[in-house]
Amino acid sequence: MKVQKVVDDIYRLAVNIEDENYLFEGIWPIPNGISINSYLIKGEKNVLIDLTQDIMDFPKAIAEQMEDASLTVEDIDIIVVNHMEPDHSGWLREFCKKNSKGVIYCTKKAIPLLQAFGDVPPERAIAITDGMTLEIGDYELQFFDTPNIHWPETMMTYEKKRGILFACDAFGSYGKVEDDTIFDDQLSQEKHQFFEKEALRYYANIVATFSPFVLKGLTKLSGLDIKVICPSHGIIWRDNPGVIIDHYKRYAEYSKGPAEREVTLVCSSMYGNTKSMMNLVVETLKKRQIPVHVYQVPGDDIGYILASAWKSAGLIFGMPTYEYKVFPPMSHVIEELLVKKVTNKKVFRYGSYGWVGGAQRDFQSKIEKSGWDLLSFYEWQGAPTEEDKENMVKALDSYCDELIKFTE
Ligand code: FEO
Repeated sequence: MKVQKVVDDIYRLAVNIEDENYLFEGIWPIPNGISINSYLIKGEKNVLIDLTQDIMDFPKAIAEQMEDASLTVEDIDIIVVNHMEPDHSGWLREFCKKNSKGVIYCTKKAIPLLQAFGDVPPERAIAITDGMTLEIGDYELQFFDTPNIHWPETMMTYEKKRGILFACDAFGSYGKVEDDTIFDDQLSQEKHQFFEKEALRYYANIVATFSPFVLKGLTKLSGLDIKVICPSHGIIWRDNPGVIIDHYKRYAEYSKGPAEREVTLVCSSMYGNTKSMMNLVVETLKKRQIPVHVYQVPGDDIGYILASAWKSAGLIFGMPTYEYKVFPPMSHVIEELLVKKVTNKKVFRYGSYGWVGGAQRDFQSKIEKSGWDLLSFYEWQGAPTEEDKENMVKALDSYCDELIKFTE
């Protein structure tokens, strides 16, 4: 990728992870890649905002882009570390070996992590205080403590004179970024939709657990005149930064419920008896004009299920009893949804059992503290009969009535 001017002497330096088998954070599939962005301010003092991951040739690529902006690693006077996760700090160890003068600005909580991840002594760092400013010639940086967006030590940096927010992981998205479409105003409608979808999946996977902190952070930033958002993943928002701010607000508010009038249907089956009801569920919801997103486990990745569940006000689980309990692949799904604090949902469960049941009891015990409202369930022994199908439709119709009321 090429060095790109954002405005005046502020530049974006970036790389894309393009390996379609790479798992972000070691968990999340990114078949469409992801960009990792750093930002450079050239001036009376040269500032590098966030580094890059130390994989492939990323540090070399960023150093070369810096050189294209007529600077070297040794020329950097100030290193702003908004966040210590290794996708933004992995290069720190080698960077600081080459550059002995750069002063690091980070939060107090990041200082021990500098040592732990990068072998950088605390003496090289200045702990910011919330709202603290730093004048550098024609630039004025202001630092904001934004804990848990998305780890405890995170902060954001705002360039006051130009209204540019360097938000690190906040307002980011999955999806690689092409050199000719780095700004929101360069994207086609189709690309906008792509990044919106990838922003939601990124939020659900990376940030969702900390949604109350996102809402607090948005309140803190609401007094700023933000003209440009420069995230560390994804595109730069310079035409209408309000779009991504509104998306993030909406995503965070889904945690308080209700989310959208949609259902995420997660199906599993051992011998097809539970699966045989899947189409009936889809058809019944469609008749009630409720969009339904269908996933099957094992098979579909939890990262996608999370994004869909986060946005849906309704969750339906199809699972059989397995050894008196919830079918194991579904246990994993439920556990992940709870870890990510997917809450305030209207829920329905159905499934077949063989010799004895047990899944329903186990399911209820698992979701006891979830904030899910289990409206009803339907179980049958073996293969479903015509009567079972009629009963399912009746139960689902009542479920739809409640979901519609919930989302009015
Ligand atoms: Fe992009 Fe939390 O790192």
